[in-house]
Amino acid sequence: MTAPRPARRPTESRRRGKGSESQDAAVLAELRPGQSIELLKELHILTREGRLNQDSRRKLKQVYHLYQFIEPLLAELAQDGHAPLLADHGAGKSYLGFILYDLFFKGQGRGRIYGIEWRADLVERSRALAQRLGFERMEFLNLAVADAAGREAGLPERIDIVTALHACDTATDDAIAFGLHKQARAMVLVPCCQAEVAAQLRGSKALQLARTPLAELWRHPIHTRELGSHLTNVMRCLHLEASGYQVTVTELVGWEHSLKNELILARWTGQRKRSAAERLAAILEEFGLTGALATRFGMA
Ligand SMILES: C[S@@+](CC[C@H](N)C(=O)[O-])C[C@H]1O[C@@H](n2cnc3c(N)ncnc32)[C@H](O)[C@@H]1O
Repeated sequence: MTAPRPARRPTESRRRGKGSESQDAAVLAELRPGQSIELLKELHILTREGRLNQDSRRKLKQVYHLYQFIEPLLAELAQDGHAPLLADHGAGKSYLGFILYDLFFKGQGRGRIYGIEWRADLVERSRALAQRLGFERMEFLNLAVADAAGREAGLPERIDIVTALHACDTATDDAIAFGLHKQARAMVLVPCCQAEVAAQLRGSKALQLARTPLAELWRHPIHTRELGSHLTNVMRCLHLEASGYQVTVTELVGWEHSLKNELILARWTGQRKRSAAERLAAILEEFGLTGALATRFGMA
């Protein structure tokens, strides 16, 4: 009697399909020259065998896409021997900070990245990784974004670039406040969901429905959430324009990659737009938000 044959294990290529192999090849080909493979493995973007980790692929694409916007800003800032300072808010595992350091700061030999994150375990992990890689000019601060601008946080008086990639809820607003306080030359923001405005809209729904048919825009709970999020980003842009920044809003990557996909780029020009401030005040009033949120958006 012959022993039953063990079931054949599908090969890697059969399991994942040819399409994903060619996608792997395409993304691996995209890796920047000089990019540290060790770093990508440490961040679990590459597996130990040097293959692309499908779960982290999205993150890599987002970070590379952001890099296209941030690199010219850094290059411009670094022109006259200046050492650019960048603060990344809600840094998490600091994918963005590490890749920016690897691709730009390492080669420059000057400048510094500060990662701000309130989860102590993530801060510890990033510190250990920076030490292992010899990324000496990366610092990780165990802080809430809202506290990062305070004197006790010990950050420099001026920071050139502020980034916040999917920093939760109001952390993006705190990052904007930080950028204004530190006179940032540029802010690169990819907001996460924000619940504060939606909560206010929810609270005054009945009143607003009696007042205006426009309140239909947020009568259903899902619309309250979506409109709250959209309205928040619109008001963030007006706040930045009113504070002297030129603002561009675009997509981070295709919608298939992330639902939180709005990229807000703000560059300091010094021209504070009065019309933006007026519109912001009018919008706050129209939506019944002035009392609760005028300060948040710089309208106190
Ligand atoms: C969705 S993760 C994004 C992490 C990282 N920026 C990225 O894109 O991979 C958001 C991170 O922000 C941190 N965070 C949220 N609100 C924060 C706050 N107010 N202050 C400091 N960290 C905050 C969370 O702990 C979490 O690590």
